[in-house]
Amino acid sequence: MINPRLQKALNEQVVNELSASYSYLSISAALSQLNLNGFAKWMRDHSEEERMHAMKLFDFILDRGGQIELGIIQAPEHKLGSARELVSAALEHEKAVTGEINSLYQLALDTNDYPAQVMLQWFIAEQVEEEKVTGDIVHQIEMAGDNTSALLLLDAKLENQSGSPN
Ligand code: FEO
Repeated sequence: MINPRLQKALNEQVVNELSASYSYLSISAALSQLNLNGFAKWMRDHSEEERMHAMKLFDFILDRGGQIELGIIQAPEHKLGSARELVSAALEHEKAVTGEINSLYQLALDTNDYPAQVMLQWFIAEQVEEEKVTGDIVHQIEMAGDNTSALLLLDAKLENQSGSPN
């Protein structure tokens, strides 16, 4: 039996992960419009990863005999801008998710839910990885600056990457 407060927060996190997935899909579309197909593919893969995260939480709730209560997923803001602006927006989103996961972990500690703590430790490690990968790409775009060839080289690298780097 999951503590009702924790169950509610886990359900909310399912929605948060699906919202992240939806946002990254929107960012992927904007990158595609810039003809940065490698960036667009990477962001689309990232969107898929977020859906997987939602399902991991979804399955955990069910495995614990809990109740699924799906909420509303808001439409993402339609962001347009440079590659730097678009990938930076994804990084900011990741930082917000890290805060959500940390709060969820604190709640699992407060409610003495040991299985939830173990499950959430996977998410904590995943957030470190995702912030690093996304942050590195923002940094590399900044290093490319006004050099289009360098940006296209980075785009080709992301295009040839198999699966998601996250
Ligand atoms: Fe599932 Fe990147 O947060």
